[in-house]
Amino acid sequence: MEKNKKLIVANWKMNPQTAEEALRLVKNIAGRAARGVELAIAPPFVYLDMVKKNCGREIKLAAQNVHWEERGAFTGEISAPMLKNIGCDYVIIGHSERRYKMGETGEMINLKIKSALRHGLVPILAVGEREKNGDIKKTLAEQLTGALEGVGASEIGRLVIAYEPVWAIGTGVSDTPDHALSAALLIRKIAGGIYGKELTENLPVLYGGSVSGKNTGEFIGQKGIDGALVGGASLEAENFEAVLASAVSGDAE
Ligand code: 13P
Repeated sequence: MEKNKKLIVANWKMNPQTAEEALRLVKNIAGRAARGVELAIAPPFVYLDMVKKNCGREIKLAAQNVHWEERGAFTGEISAPMLKNIGCDYVIIGHSERRYKMGETGEMINLKIKSALRHGLVPILAVGEREKNGDIKKTLAEQLTGALEGVGASEIGRLVIAYEPVWAIGTGVSDTPDHALSAALLIRKIAGGIYGKELTENLPVLYGGSVSGKNTGEFIGQKGIDGALVGGASLEAENFEAVLASAVSGDAE
């Protein structure tokens, strides 16, 4: 992650339906990386190459998933060296849609993190509680310790964590900036319990969950929140432009 910038990641999920639409979207976004903001696009695998070729130099490329093995008999999977080779900088790992809809386990997530790090990709590790009043401490502690098992102290500085409360994803009901900030502090505290405060006090934590042009600035304007992972609002150029405008206005600190 670039120093002194907030990171905005557009997670397109399984959208859009055609390469033409994807090209239109990327062309509309290209050149819009704003001052103080690092921008990354996470398209479906089939559009990665096209997005890379059309997004301009200042926009980073992210994958939405990765397999933990490098090669071999894993039909349908994509490896970290492949992603690196095609020009990815980041890879989202452990998104709740993969955990709960695709049965991804903590062990798989841990193997994916280690493979991404081995091959020079920055993992964006997504964590978050499922229920609004769920046991956030227990959930975050379990998800983080599981995902970071065997990740060395020299590598923790290469990770980005995304706090995405599952109840806020795709619902139009975002978390509050205060609660998201306390979750970000909790994430650093849990990581600090493993690696020590010195290595984790600046661990980048993004917020994700119904981020829009109306609220991005409120989240990332907070000193302890380092950016946003944007789903639905990244699928229309106009909405995404509003997210970026809000990001710049909130980045006054
Ligand atoms: P929405 O912004 O659509 O709520 O999605 C958030 C998300 O899951 C980003 O990874």
